[in-house]
Order: sequence, then C-alpha cells, then structure tokens
Amino acid sequence: MNYRGNPEALRALVEPDRVHRDIYINQEVFELEQEHFFANTWNYVGHDSQVPKPGDYMTNEIGGRPLIVVRHTDGSVKVMMNRCAHKGSRLVNDGCGNTGKFFRCPYHAWTFKTDGSLLAIPLKLGYEGTRLSECESAKGLVTLKNVRVYRGFIFAKINDVGPDFEAYFGESLSSMDNMADRSPEGELEIAGGCLRFMHQCNWKMFVENLNDTMHPMVAHESSAGTAKKMWADKPADAPKPMAIEQFVPFMSDYKFFEDMGVRVFDNGHSFSGVNFSIHSKYSGIPAYEQAMKAKYGDERAAQILGLTRHNTVYYPNLTIKGAIQAIRVVKPIAADKTLVESWTFRLKGAPPELLQRTTMYSRLINSPFSVVGHDDLQAYRGIQAGLQASGNDWVSLHRNFHESEIGKAEVTTNGTSEISMRNQYRAWARYMTLDM
Ligand code: FES
Ligand SMILES: [Fe+2]
Repeated sequence: MNYRGNPEALRALVEPDRVHRDIYINQEVFELEQEHFFANTWNYVGHDSQVPKPGDYMTNEIGGRPLIVVRHTDGSVKVMMNRCAHKGSRLVNDGCGNTGKFFRCPYHAWTFKTDGSLLAIPLKLGYEGTRLSECESAKGLVTLKNVRVYRGFIFAKINDVGPDFEAYFGESLSSMDNMADRSPEGELEIAGGCLRFMHQCNWKMFVENLNDTMHPMVAHESSAGTAKKMWADKPADAPKPMAIEQFVPFMSDYKFFEDMGVRVFDNGHSFSGVNFSIHSKYSGIPAYEQAMKAKYGDERAAQILGLTRHNTVYYPNLTIKGAIQAIRVVKPIAADKTLVESWTFRLKGAPPELLQRTTMYSRLINSPFSVVGHDDLQAYRGIQAGLQASGNDWVSLHRNFHESEIGKAEVTTNGTSEISMRNQYRAWARYMTLDM
C-alpha cells in the first residue's frame, strides 16, 4: 500500500472501533506523520520557567523540524526554526543557554534578533544589485505564528491550519489549570533536569497507554505487586514509606479503575481519574494544606486538592500528572523508536516535601531506572514485535464502544473503556490529512 499522496488510504487505517497495524509499524506512515500530522497539531515545546530572562533559549523540535524557543527582549516567547537564513546551518547547537541580544550563525556570522529578524550580514555591499532582498533569506528566520503560553506551558503549531489554541484543547485545559492552581502562588517551575527514557516502540503505544486502565494490575504485578506483598503484613496505621504509597495503588482491582472514570475531549485529549485516582490517598502534608488555605480560602483549596486526576493527554505530545506535578513529553524518532522525556515541577510557594514527593514519583515510576516504566516498555516492545505477524492486520479498540460517542465534543464514561484510544485515532486521521 502506498500512503504518500493518498489521504483516503491513511483515513482507512482508522475504523470506529479498531486501527490497522500500519499505523504503528509502517515507516512511510511515520514519515507522513512527521511531515503532516505533527505540523497540523498544537505541540508542547517547553515551559516558561526554562527561559526566564531575555535572550534565554532552549531547542526542541516538532515532527523533525529543529526549533528555537527564546525569550525576546519585549518579554514574549518566540518560536522559530533553528535554521540560518543564509545556507541553512543550525543556528544554535546547545540544548539551552542565553544568546544575549541576538543569534550569531557559527558558519558566516549572519546575525538575527531574538524575534527572528535579520540584524546584520558581514560585508553586506557584496549583495548590492542581487535578488537577496526579495527572497526569504533577507527576511530572517522562519518564525511561527501559532504560539501560545498557557499557565506557563508553551505550545506551538507549524502549519496555519485547524483550530486555534483554545478551540483545539477546549475544556481539557482544566487539568493544566489544576496543576498550576496547586501552587500557593498559582505558578509552576521546572525543577532540575530531564529524565530521558528511550522506548523501542511507536510513540502512539505510549500515548494510548496513559489512559489504559486494564493493564496496571497485569503488567505491573511484578513491580507494584511485589511492593504490595512486602507491605501486606503491616498494621493498617503503620506510617507508609513514600515508595510504598506510590507503588501499591497500581495494583488496585478492576472495579477501582472502572469507577475512576475517564473523560475524552474533541481532538484526541482525555484524562482518567474523573472521580478519584491512584493519587487520591497520598498522606497529607499539613504545612502545604495550610499554605493553600491561606491563599485560596478553605473551600477553594479543598476543591483544588480534591481534584486528583490521573493522566491527562494533551494530544499528541504532552501528558501531565497534575496531582504529582510531573509531565512526560513524547519525541517520535522512528516508527519503532520514541524518546520519552520526563520533567518534574516545583509548586511555587509550597514546602519542600511536595517536591520530594514529586521527584520520588518521577524516579520510581517515570524514569529510565523505574521498575514500573520497564513493565510498560516490555509490553510496547512485545506489541511492536507481535504486529509483524501476518493474518490479522487489525488492533482491537472495541471495549465499551458505542456509535453514539462519535462526533461528541466531550464524553465521560466508565474508567476501563477504550474510548480514549478511539478518540485519539479519530483525531489522528483528521490531523494527518488536514493539509493534504
Ligand atoms: S550558514 Fe549561517 S551565516 Fe552562512
Ligand atoms: Fe503502566
């Protein structure tokens, strides 16, 4: 099957209740995703707190396109292609830094202001009478029009197609609000560096797993189940070590995950943990609760802290855990290779125990040395290998499927439904072919 130039064939990979295996294993589909799907969707590119001062920058990419995210002199955040306007050299090679008032290309020293405009060219007279002034190169760097900073989270979209930021994310933004509201100052700050975890699987397996509640009690039995057994004989009032508190809820039974609930939104977004989650019963931190009440009042503080959603997927590349202040960012590398970045946040104005809990969670659950994370990785590798088999081209997403869910802007339903995956793939088919 040729997919290039064939939007019909791409859309046919997604049926209402199942998807074709090529969506995970076909290299051409992967390349078309990089070209079209990721360029047509809003992607997370970093956090405000990583570029606090004018001239601060970090590099990133969307669908293989190298990007610079920089704080301009007027305080705004600009996102531009990391490509010199002259011969195409990468302008900055470090992951982050401060460039001062301008970027200077390391090849022939063309310089650009932090809004991307061309500042100077060495020996400029040599261009007199040429066509340079009429072409793209004279305009400076390619700067993205679609950039939005929401509660500190920076998003960008490459192509000028599809909905604007608010329409794209809609009510799902309430999870990001809750994560920031959990700070007594209403603001988050990246704490420390990044934990990078290479996954030998397609990026979509990771993203669909985030609201897959039928796997924890099975796939995580060896890790979380062991922790549960270790703690089984302890008296009910024995103070729980933080690791036990974080591991054991993964072994909750089917009913727990069923009752937890899942909510999906248009454009592929979703969260599990509508009613409660595996984070609901973490022990209280009195100084923190005090700080929250002082800032918001008793009622509002209880409301904010009572919302303990599990994973929220901001489709396609960002997944957050508001109650834990950790995020994971997906970076597709090949059809069978995905880098997952795990970042940890500090709630401004909160006591240090909160950050301790968060970093513990990131290490135990979401890092390359996590035992829980390796259970999932093993499952994804197994799928990537298993899907090479012939005789059945389709992957089942039938669990709790009802025709009526199609086309709804928002659906809340039982927690073990596979609705979040069906919802992601409907969005995938739409955004994959939006500009074809
Ligand atoms: S490639 Fe950048 S100045 Fe020549
Ligand atoms: Fe898992």
